[in-house]
This record gives sequence, structure tokens and C-alpha cells, in this order.
Amino acid sequence: MSYLEIKNLHVSIENKEILKGLDLTVEQGKVHAIMGPNGTGKSTLAYTLMGHPSYTVTQGEVLFKGQNILELEPDKRSRLGIFLAFQYPVAIPGVTVANFLRSAVNSRRRAENPEDKGMPIPEFRKMLKEKMGLLKMDQAFAGRYLNDGFSGGEKKRAEILQMATLKPEIAILDETDSGLDIDALRIVSEGVNALSGPDLGVLVITHYQRLLNYIKPDVVHVMMNGRIVESGGPDLALHLEEQGYDWVREKYEETAEA
Ligand SMILES: Nc1ncnc2c1ncn2[C@@H]1O[C@H](COP(=O)(O)OP(=O)(O)OP(=O)(O)O)[C@@H](O)[C@H]1O
Ligand SMILES: [Mg+2]
Repeated sequence: MSYLEIKNLHVSIENKEILKGLDLTVEQGKVHAIMGPNGTGKSTLAYTLMGHPSYTVTQGEVLFKGQNILELEPDKRSRLGIFLAFQYPVAIPGVTVANFLRSAVNSRRRAENPEDKGMPIPEFRKMLKEKMGLLKMDQAFAGRYLNDGFSGGEKKRAEILQMATLKPEIAILDETDSGLDIDALRIVSEGVNALSGPDLGVLVITHYQRLLNYIKPDVVHVMMNGRIVESGGPDLALHLEEQGYDWVREKYEETAEA
């Protein structure tokens, strides 16, 4: 079983410390949710885990399959089985969804075996069609430029399609629910659920308990001021929905002022 293990993580952006000693373990086969007020560092955590160059790790470590991934380039992390669905996916005009996914799949295959010639096109088409069916995406999507002119919901679906294609071992979903209409929320969640199982660990970042009705978390964490301050079962998300964050702020006031 592989674990993503984050220990005492401190991260700065432009000399401002955002993550201030964050500890978190995500096991394969489990769904962890992170909730927390705006600006507490949730996306910073996601970007740091993928190796975004703007985020400087000043202290702590992140282990995956026993390796300290902080030393690895983003593509190596991805090949190791870590996947991030972005809060704000970027458009790549000129590159179709199908081509983008095919090169991602092939580069992963080549990483495993340098002699690999790539997945044969008919096999790739069949696989893509199947995954798009799972996410109830129109097949015409495959021929469109990635995220170019996609609606908010279409972008989120395209992110999950990437996840379905790359079959990660740990998936980090940063506000994959934002901007989704009710049907799309259900479809995307079903897509995630269809992919989850003993081989996949999921870290879902969300503001709304609603998503967690569909993607059922094993553990819910509250992030405040760059740290995980509370962890509990699914009830914790319901409690937050009803009570807001004031009680957390009061309880961790010292932390907030530090
Ligand atoms: N590139 C950057 N330059 C300067 N400050 C940044 C940068 N990226 C993030 N920050 C700051 O870091 C803090 C944490 O941002 P982050 O995006 O991680 O928050 P978040 O918890 O994901 O918030 P939200 O719930 O609104 O998505 C914010 O105060 C933000 O302004
Ligand atoms: Mg964010």
C-alpha cells in the first residue's frame, strides 16, 4: 500500500509563509477531504505536491511510496502516480484533448519502458471513448482544443477525464465541484467514484459539504492558517456546513495570530 505522507510542511510564496507546518497522510484506497476558509493555503498545498516552481518548500518533507518527492520534477511525480485536478485548468489552444491525453499516456509508458512505441491508436481511441462514456461527455470533445473555450463544467470534466486516462494512485482534486451544475456534479462525482478503489487515494479540496454526499470521505480535515487543525469523520463536514468556521477560529486563535 502506498501512502502520501506530508510531514511538517512549510511553504512560502514570494517570502510569505503560507503553509506553516502541515501534517497529513493519505492512504491508497481512502478518500480524504480538506475544507477551510479562503486563502488558508489549500491550493498552495495542491500546487506544492505537484511541484509548481512558484512555491518554495522551506521545511518538512513529502513522502510517496517511501520517496521524498520534493526532489522530483512535476513530470516525475506524475509518473510516480500523483495527479492534480486544477482549481483553474489552463487552456492549451492548438492541442486537442485526444492528442494531449495520448501524449500523456505515451510518456508514462515510455517512462516505464524506453523501448515502448506508444499505445496503438485504435486501442487509445477505444479507451478514450469508454472513459468519455463514463463521464457522459460528448465524443466531439476529444477533437476540441484542451480547455479552449470550455465552460467551467466542461473544464472540470476534462480534468476528470485526464484522471481516468492516467489512472493515478493519488488524486488531488482542487475544488472540482466549483462551477458544476447539479447534474454535472453528480456525473463528475460518479466518475471519481468509478475510478476509486483500493488502488486510488483521493484528496478532495472543497468548500461545500454537498460534494461529500457524492464522494464519500473517510476522513475530513479542516485547514486554517496553513495547517490542518481538525480531523474527523464525515460528520465534521456537516458540522462545518451548519456552524461555519467561527468555532474553529476561536479554538485556534493563537494559531491564527502566530
Ligand atoms: N503566486 C502568489 N503570489 C502571492 N501570493 C500568493 C500566490 N499564490 C497564493 N498566494 C497567497 O497565498 C494564500 C493562500 O492561497 P491559496 O490559493 O492556497 O488559498 P486557498 O485555501 O486555496 O483559497 P480558496 O479557498 O480561495 O481557493 C493567499 O493569501 C494567496 O493570496
Ligand atoms: Mg484554492
